[in-house]
Amino acid sequence: MTASLFDLADQALDAVIAGLEARHAEAEGVAETLACLKRQERPHSGVPGFSPRQDPACRHLDAGLAAARQVDPDLGAALEAIAPLLDWHRIPPHVPRPPEPFMDDYAYTKIVGPGGVYPGDDFMLGLFIIGPHQFYPDHLHDAPEFYWLFSGPSNWRFAVDAPWNVKLAGALQWNQAHLSHAMQTGEVALFSLWAWTRDIAGDFTIVGAEGKAPLNSPPAH
Ligand SMILES: [Fe+2]
Repeated sequence: MTASLFDLADQALDAVIAGLEARHAEAEGVAETLACLKRQERPHSGVPGFSPRQDPACRHLDAGLAAARQVDPDLGAALEAIAPLLDWHRIPPHVPRPPEPFMDDYAYTKIVGPGGVYPGDDFMLGLFIIGPHQFYPDHLHDAPEFYWLFSGPSNWRFAVDAPWNVKLAGALQWNQAHLSHAMQTGEVALFSLWAWTRDIAGDFTIVGAEGKAPLNSPPAH
């Protein structure tokens, strides 16, 4: 019998829980992310608005999934099974003036959250991918945000004028509510798990000059 979307989603979510508990239980943000994930209901009944859909940026998925298998084999296998069945979207509408080159290199999907496999209760968890040589501008939001990076290296900064931090495959990142953050990819596409742990309907703000410029403008440094 073929596994259903819900079975595959359950396997992926359970692998996220097992992987974080085994490898990163003490890391910042993991306890909150796990507590929120574990209390989510998983009704096998379908969510309005969900339909399997690919995006041009999904061409980077094979490399991203291979990287995920290196970071956590069980989770990587679970993500490989479900990734082609998910509802992949272009950049959220709250990000201003995204040009087509960036659009073709950015996609996100939700396993939990509005429009995802499971509806979520003030919680979202999904995957996202940014192609090589792209820049996601400095932004902040009301929701605390958790990342588990499966590929790398990628550059991250936490203020518009701050130096870039290099993050390698397997790294975590916990963004407290209202912490500014930006990401920049180099030779390698960035493939990641992400979660918003509360206040998912809150504000999202692009900060700094990039908020007035196309998304793939070169960063200041
Ligand atoms: Fe963010």
